[in-house]
Amino acid sequence: MHSAKGTPVPFILASPATGGGVNKAQSNSIFECSHFTIMFDDSKTGINHSPVWAKLHQHQRATRFMQMRELFLADAQRFQRFSLRLDGLLLDYSKNRITERTLELLIDLAHEAELPDWMQRMRCGERINVSERRAVLHTALRLPQSASLVVDGQDVVPEVHAVLQRMRVFSDKVRSGQWLGYTGQPIRDVVNLGIGGSDLGPLVVKEALAAYAHPGLKVHFVSNVDGQHIARTLEQLDPATTLFVVASKSFTTPETLLNAEAAKAWFLQAASQGDIARHFVAVSTNAPAVQAFGIDTEHMFGFWDWVGGRYSVWSAIGLPVMLAVGYDCFRQFLDGAHAMDEHFFHAPLAQNMPVLLALIGIWYNTFYQAHTHAIMPYDHGLRRLPAHIQQLDMESNGKRVGRFGAPLDFDTGPVIWGEEGANSQHAFFQLLHQGTRLVPCDFIVPMNSHYGLEQQHRVLVANCLAQSEALMRGKSEAEVMAELPDMPGEELDMLLPQKLFPGNQPSNTIALDKVTPRTLGMLLALYEHKVFVQGVIWGINSFDQWGVEYGKQLARRILPELDAAAAAPAAHDSSTRGLIEYFRSVHG
Ligand code: F6P
Repeated sequence: MHSAKGTPVPFILASPATGGGVNKAQSNSIFECSHFTIMFDDSKTGINHSPVWAKLHQHQRATRFMQMRELFLADAQRFQRFSLRLDGLLLDYSKNRITERTLELLIDLAHEAELPDWMQRMRCGERINVSERRAVLHTALRLPQSASLVVDGQDVVPEVHAVLQRMRVFSDKVRSGQWLGYTGQPIRDVVNLGIGGSDLGPLVVKEALAAYAHPGLKVHFVSNVDGQHIARTLEQLDPATTLFVVASKSFTTPETLLNAEAAKAWFLQAASQGDIARHFVAVSTNAPAVQAFGIDTEHMFGFWDWVGGRYSVWSAIGLPVMLAVGYDCFRQFLDGAHAMDEHFFHAPLAQNMPVLLALIGIWYNTFYQAHTHAIMPYDHGLRRLPAHIQQLDMESNGKRVGRFGAPLDFDTGPVIWGEEGANSQHAFFQLLHQGTRLVPCDFIVPMNSHYGLEQQHRVLVANCLAQSEALMRGKSEAEVMAELPDMPGEELDMLLPQKLFPGNQPSNTIALDKVTPRTLGMLLALYEHKVFVQGVIWGINSFDQWGVEYGKQLARRILPELDAAAAAPAAHDSSTRGLIEYFRSVHG
C-alpha cells in the first residue's frame, strides 16, 4: 500500500468492535486494549535520522575510552544500581560500557520508536505482523484461564485452554500407561518430528527440564531431512511402544513430511494401517493436510496463525514437553513466561529486563558496530539454548528493510552464537579475551543444581563468574609483571604483550535460582521480548521470515535435476551446475 509522500494512511484497520478486549486475569494485569491503527507513513524518516540517534553516536564517541574496571572502582554500588531481580531470576547488567546517561539516551530512543505503543499493539492482538497481516499473540498462550483477550471479536483464552486441556488428557494417558500401542503395551518412546520452531523450542525445554521428566518415557527429536537422523533414532526403538508427534505449523515443510513418511513406513513394516491412530498424532494449524497424511483430526492438536513458529513452544508444539514433564510442570513453565510478560508490559522501561537487554544490545550492535552476540549457558541442560535464541533472534531481526519495505541504512540483528560453559572456555574464549573483536556476551547460570555433586556445581559457577570478571577487568601490565619471574629483557618484551588482557569486554549475567519450569519460562520469554524490542527500535517486522523461502524454492528446482536420467541441469551458474553434474556422475 502506497500513499502520496507525506500523507499517512491507515495500513490495517481493526474496527473497534473487533479490536482488543479487556484482560481481567488478575488485578495487576487489568488493561484496556485501546484501538490502535498501524499507519503506513512514509513521510517519517528512519530512526537513524532522529536527534537521539545522533546524540547516542556522540555519546559513544565521548565515552568510548571509558574502562569498566574504573567505573567499578569509582562506584561501589554499581552492581546494585545496574541489576534487577524478578522472582527466581537476576539480571546483572553492570559489566557493560554504560553509564546512567547511556541508559537515559537509549530509553529516549525507545520512546522515539514508540515502543510502549508497540508493546500494547502486540499485547492487544493488533496485526503487527503486517506482511502476513497477522496478530502476534504468543503472550496469549500463557494467560491464565481467568483472563480474557478479545481478538477479531473472539476471546482467544478459552480456545487456548481448551487445547491445553486436550493435551493434558492425552499426555496423562500416555504418561500413566493408559494409552496403549497396537500390541497392548504402553508407550515408552516419543519421537517429535519437526524442524525450526517446531523442534528447537520443545527440544531445549525438554532437555533443560530433564530432572522433571517421566523416568519411563524417552522423548526424541528428529528434525534434519538427512536420513541418518531418523534412521539412527528409529534403530533404537520398538514400533509397538513408540508414539510419533508430527509437529508442523504449516504441515507443508518437506523435511518434516519426509521424516513423517519414513516413520510411517517403518511403523507399517510391523503394524497395520489401522494401528496408525494409536501411534501418530499431529500438531498443526492445517487440518486438511494432517488428514491427507493419514492422521485423524481427533488426534490433532491445533494452534493459530497468530503463533509464530519460533514463538510456538507455548502452544501445542510444546506437546513433547508435556509428555516428558507432565501438565503441572508445563503449566508452571507457562506461568513463568506470563510473569515475565506482566513484568514486560508493566515495568517502567528503565527497570524492565527485556527492554534493558534489548537496549544494551542495540548500544553495541548499532553504536559500537559489534557484529555478533554470544550466549553461554553454564548449564548442561541448556546447551541447545544458543541454537533456540539464534533462530528466535536471527529469523526475527535478520532483515534489511523496515516493516513497510523501506530499506534500512544501518545494521540490524547481530549474528547470535554460543555454546555451553565450561566447554566453551576451552574452545573460543581465547578470542573473547585477547582477540581483536568486540563480542558482547550473555552468561546464564543457575545458582543450584538438580544433580547434587555440589563441589562440581561450585566449580561451574566459579568458572562462569570468573569469565565475566576477566573479560571486564582484563589484566594490566603491572599485574602481569607481578606474576612473571625475572627474565632477560628481550624475553620479557616477547612475553609481556602476550600475557596482557585488554578487558573492557561487556557481558550480562542472568542468574537463575535453579532451572525450574517457572524460571525457564521466564528466561525464554525474556529473550522473546528482547528480540521484539530491538525489532521495534529498528522498525522491523520481527514476525515474518521471507528470507527462508528463496532457498526452498531453488531446492525444489534442483531436486529433479539430481536425477542422472533427467534432462541436463537448467540454467544455473557454473558452480551450481558443476556440483549438480558431480552428484549425477557419482550416481551415474
Ligand atoms: O525455517 C522457517 C520456518 O518457517 C520456521 O519459522 C518454522 O519454525 C519452521 O520453518 C517449521 O515450519 P513448520 O512448523 O510449518 O513445519
